Amino acid sequence: MQVHSVSSHLLQQLADIVGPQHQKVGADIDAIDPGWNPHNLDARIMVSPDSTDQIAAIIKACGEHQTPVVTQGGRTGLVGGSISHTGEVILSMGRMARIIHIDAIERVAVVEAGVTLEALQKAAAALGLEPGIDLAARGSATLGGMASTNAGGVMAFRNGVMRHRVLGLEAVMPDGSVMTDMTRIVKNAAGYDLKHLLIGAEGTLGIITRLAIRLDPLPQATATAIFGCSTVAVALELVQFGLRVETGHLRAAEALWQPFIELTARANQWSDPAFELSKPVYLLVLLGGNETSALTDELGKLFERLIEIDPEATGMIAQSIRQEQALWRLREDTDAVYRAHRFAPSYDVSIPLSEIETYVERIGSALQQNSRPFAPYIFGHIADGNLHIILNCEGPLSADDTEAVEAILYRDIRALGGSFSAEHGVGSKRIHALLSSVDPTKVRFMKAIKATLDPHHLLNPGKVLP
Ligand code: LAC
Ligand code: ZN
Repeated sequence: MQVHSVSSHLLQQLADIVGPQHQKVGADIDAIDPGWNPHNLDARIMVSPDSTDQIAAIIKACGEHQTPVVTQGGRTGLVGGSISHTGEVILSMGRMARIIHIDAIERVAVVEAGVTLEALQKAAAALGLEPGIDLAARGSATLGGMASTNAGGVMAFRNGVMRHRVLGLEAVMPDGSVMTDMTRIVKNAAGYDLKHLLIGAEGTLGIITRLAIRLDPLPQATATAIFGCSTVAVALELVQFGLRVETGHLRAAEALWQPFIELTARANQWSDPAFELSKPVYLLVLLGGNETSALTDELGKLFERLIEIDPEATGMIAQSIRQEQALWRLREDTDAVYRAHRFAPSYDVSIPLSEIETYVERIGSALQQNSRPFAPYIFGHIADGNLHIILNCEGPLSADDTEAVEAILYRDIRALGGSFSAEHGVGSKRIHALLSSVDPTKVRFMKAIKATLDPHHLLNPGKVLP
């Protein structure tokens, strides 16, 4: 059985670079978790370097053999950005996982790209700091992967996305050269800011090896509440109230449409007779500040204001850390959907806030009236307009169904000022969406940049662009 088609000469070179124990081929690959896409490990050859120099040597060796390289972090991407094929080499960032330095005065962390978000959150918390970005896959998502997809998460409405958290980076470029731009400062007007080419490039323009990440003070206390709202407009007004609290600050405002919260509540055996899950949309609100009881009082005031605009609204304020965690589980256990519908197709759109209500109504009825009807699970980061939409069916969809669903979900999205990909990237699954819903002039320049930096399509070919 052929397990890969990479030349034995290159294999030997790669083993010499990383050490034979850090090269996995064939049957050894079966022991590795493929992550969230069954095709991630299809190349069946993986090298795990532990330095930028080794990565540069790998890229040079692969370049000589014209063998493409697919870089992988946590392998939890949702759009096939790290799938690999026979004839390619997987470059795992698993050993590039050192936190090099955290400076509490600068409020900056210098890390290797394979450090997970959770590892950085823990190390920063010990100094009273946080990376200012948080997402449910924190335990597996690596900072290099998050930069490569320009990840966002729950605090993006307040702190921006990865693009706003990365102060500097180092990358191995497609020709094997190392571009070091490890600035640790916010202001830098020194010409073209090339780090932004690599952020969001999904490993197609270079391999991010180190990052300087901006940190913020970590609040000493948090408090969480969930509110049932009669309309999206009410939920959005509640966000406005949350942004203006007197004590503490709004850290998250996550919307859970009823079918989604009903499913995650059932999956987690969560129920409360005093809090029925019958409202159209729920808002999970997290405040941060100095003292829990003051924040809990503030959530009580939010509820009072909510009742003024929506007398039918419901609310529940977590009274303990355990209750707070249980409420967050209702939001973060997105896996419950995939347990109910294997490989359910998922979408990730950004919609300007004033358009969300109309958009959700339109796609809901269009999906219901589709020749193959769907009832979507919708949830997401409503304070920045990022909605996650998962269909209630087993995936993957046929080509016809994909086309019909994309026509519904992406209709007018560019004219609305939204995006077909909010924070999950383009990968291999959203290339058609990119080509059909992005300004052709932009696509032309994207192709020109790729051709200039990586003319032989060595880095993550077939991702982002065809
Ligand atoms: C989340 C991922 C799906 O927000 O982006 O849970
Ligand atoms: Zn998300």
